[in-house]
Amino acid sequence: MSQTFLITGASSGIGYELAKVCGRDRHNLVLVARREEPLKALKSELESAYGIQVWTYRADLTQAEARQQLFGWTQAEGIAVDGLVNNAGFGDYGPFVETDWDKQEQMIQLNVLALTHLTRLFLPAMVARQQGKILNLASTAAFQPGPLMAVYFATKAYVLSFTSAIASELEGTGVTATTFCPGPTTSEFQENSGMGQSKLVQGRKLPTAAEVAELGYQAMQRGEWVAVQGLSNRALTLASRFLPRKLLTNAVRQMQSPA
Ligand SMILES: NC(=O)c1ccc[n+]([C@@H]2O[C@H](COP(=O)([O-])OP(=O)(O)OC[C@H]3O[C@@H](n4cnc5c(N)ncnc54)[C@H](OP(=O)(O)O)[C@@H]3O)[C@@H](O)[C@H]2O)c1
Repeated sequence: MSQTFLITGASSGIGYELAKVCGRDRHNLVLVARREEPLKALKSELESAYGIQVWTYRADLTQAEARQQLFGWTQAEGIAVDGLVNNAGFGDYGPFVETDWDKQEQMIQLNVLALTHLTRLFLPAMVARQQGKILNLASTAAFQPGPLMAVYFATKAYVLSFTSAIASELEGTGVTATTFCPGPTTSEFQENSGMGQSKLVQGRKLPTAAEVAELGYQAMQRGEWVAVQGLSNRALTLASRFLPRKLLTNAVRQMQSPA
């Protein structure tokens, strides 16, 4: 039976590609972001390619009222959300002492509060129906402190901790919660986060957002608790469990510093 997935941040990058993968598997979609034009173009493309139903919804998810209105709108439209993909997020590169506070606050609003609030809004109906999937986008950044992107790494550590905890609470309910942790990926993220100079991305061949989205989608479908994209990323996240914290954090600082 066709299901409906709501994807935040579907106007570009990984979210855009996740929408394509969900559409390919004939799921109906609610696409959310601030830019409506790319959402509308994607809606036309997916509806004509797969005969699915796609709704677009323009929202700035840093705003609590906007999140509440999105939830209310799905209820008014009679849209039962079977899958929630909390993908919208961004970072900010540079020493914390020099950062723009408004940008840090918005990042926490989006990466942490919006993800938590939307999960809280949509989860009860999934549990009541005894079926549902949540996919929360973290990052390999979730596994260690991140000098030069201190707030971003901390937001992703939150996503990993929160999502693992609710994955445990949800066992036996028919609802699963998956934390997906990509490494650096080609998208608008690097430019929006101002991290083009970082050694983490500079001169490296990054996986495409389409490749990464496919892995995230499969992990969500299997109901995995935590999925890390890529063999080398999996090795790094594993190693980070055993290294002394100071050594680990300073190693990340080296990796993050300008090339
Ligand atoms: N790319 C990477 O290297 C990488 C690695 C690990 C994890 N991730 C995570 O993957 C997720 C997707 O990132 P991406 O790489 O696909 O970046 P992206 O291309 O910049 O996409 C970010 C998406 O979030 C949306 N968004 C940003 N601010 C928003 C707001 N206030 N309200 C609603 N939507 C908002 C953007 O749409 P609008 O601008 O239209 O609102 C866009 O659709 C993020 O959570 C990111 O942290 C990325």
